[in-house]
Amino acid sequence: MSETKKKPTLRSAAWFGTQDKNGFMYRSWMKNQGIPDHEFQGKPIIGICNTWSELTPCNAHFRKLAEHVKRGILEAGGFPVEFPVFSNGESNLRPTAMLTRNLASMDVEESIRGNPMDGVVLLVGCDKTTPALLMGAASVDIPAIVVTGGPMLNGKLNGQDIGSGTAVWKLHEQAKGGQISMHDFLAAEAGHARSAGTCNTMGTASTMACMAESLGVSLPHNAAIPAVDARRYVLAHMSGMRIVEMVNEDLKLSKILKRENFENAIRTNAAIGGSTNAVIHLKAIAGRMGVPLELEDWTAVGKGTPTIVDLQPSGRFLMEEFYYAGGLPGVLRRLGESNLLPHKDALTVNGRTIWENVQDAPIYNDEVIRKIDNPLIDDGGICILRGNLAPRGAVLKPSAASPHLMKHRGKAVVFEDFDHYKARIVDPDLDVDENSILVMKNCGPKGYPGMAEVGNMGLPPKLLAKGITDMVRISDARMSGTAYGTVVLHVAPEAMAGGPLGIVKDGDFIELDCKAGRLHLDVPEDEIKTRLADRAENQKEAPRTGYAGLYLDHVLQADEGCDFDFLVGCRGSAVPKHSH
Ligand code: FES
Repeated sequence: MSETKKKPTLRSAAWFGTQDKNGFMYRSWMKNQGIPDHEFQGKPIIGICNTWSELTPCNAHFRKLAEHVKRGILEAGGFPVEFPVFSNGESNLRPTAMLTRNLASMDVEESIRGNPMDGVVLLVGCDKTTPALLMGAASVDIPAIVVTGGPMLNGKLNGQDIGSGTAVWKLHEQAKGGQISMHDFLAAEAGHARSAGTCNTMGTASTMACMAESLGVSLPHNAAIPAVDARRYVLAHMSGMRIVEMVNEDLKLSKILKRENFENAIRTNAAIGGSTNAVIHLKAIAGRMGVPLELEDWTAVGKGTPTIVDLQPSGRFLMEEFYYAGGLPGVLRRLGESNLLPHKDALTVNGRTIWENVQDAPIYNDEVIRKIDNPLIDDGGICILRGNLAPRGAVLKPSAASPHLMKHRGKAVVFEDFDHYKARIVDPDLDVDENSILVMKNCGPKGYPGMAEVGNMGLPPKLLAKGITDMVRISDARMSGTAYGTVVLHVAPEAMAGGPLGIVKDGDFIELDCKAGRLHLDVPEDEIKTRLADRAENQKEAPRTGYAGLYLDHVLQADEGCDFDFLVGCRGSAVPKHSH
């Protein structure tokens, strides 16, 4: 920071900076917390936006995290004010935490704008909390820094490491296929999540933590330090110190969240084998910042990028090893040294460029952070598909798919919705074999309000018993970042919005060609038109009440980031009028 630069006017002065009736009222009520008068004399006021909740177990250690952020803010001469926002935890919240991502973002946006805050620290962890807080903060655009809660320690079962979520899918398939008992399956529970923190695989939480770091909105190493590692609390402290400087430098989110930073994040997602959910969340964050980002950017920027992080669900290791191997700075260094980091000069929250942050980053383990010429997957970029079955696109994660299925033609076995799937998949008489394609409808943003993570449909038990471990699956749903398989997701428009997915019938042939980016329903064009017309007549609308009603009325499709139409864009940090 330039020493001679004039410090910006603090927006909190509009609350506490006047010697009149209004200043009296704002200060007086705050003083009931034991705050002395000198705290209101021009110190930057830093919000700590906390998603702590005992119902969000991944974020349940955030009170301690916030304490360390506060220490940093105080040390740097700021005045910390912690505030709660809606905590959308993935594991408990029904029907899906994605339903309330936008609700949480509204809470964050209005909490920041309406309160005396000059900068904000975003405490995030569980999947949706990261995009929700970034979306809300982006729409206000004040200085903001992300502090992630960190991943859990490795899971343990019978002397082996097991990964969050990924172990559940694998063990459950084994139990359904009869390879292990239900008793052994349930016995894995205790060792599966054995410390504070988020899922320890490269699931959505770890992916979004890596996205935040590669976007430049967190300090280096924020993504991977384990939740219980003392260095996580040092990073929280340092972030608290840094946000005070950011306020003094007027380093707002809009100066960091540029198109270039999103391109770095897309490339990073391919290198880490990141979750398909990042496609939706990055689009939503970019939309709040007014940065154009389209599905095709994932092909243009990400395609051909090797996956070099050998983490479950695509690979072998877990976040603990990732941190010990060098964490995300090691990955970014490897990318940059091979000219695979598109924008080395992209600015980050510490005031340095991303390349300045990582160019000397040590890498301690070439098995976990592999060399570019020895990747886990040659092309780890998210595969974007289009065709008459997905006119507005669909996605597939190549690093989680079976290479032999990435070009495949098969007969559809169709499920009208998730309940129909659950009832029908166990039918021993179901006409299905390993070459069939499982198709599920009505699980998109409107069809299963919130777009549940049910796209990785479990295979028919009779095929699991035969040792089949993967089949092509297609839906308008999402998939947990911890899941795997040759799974086509986010088909847009979704069935409930009139998309062609809604008219697929048992026995129709479908062609998937990942290399060509094609998803084709092999049904004559006239027949497709007739079926679409019939479906439009018979479409049933869900009742529109409560928050779910607002959601149904305003949610955008997957290719648009599933934000609400009225929330897209930055509404700025102008201080609202006061009412007394
Ligand atoms: Fe919270 Fe996975 S359930 S991070």
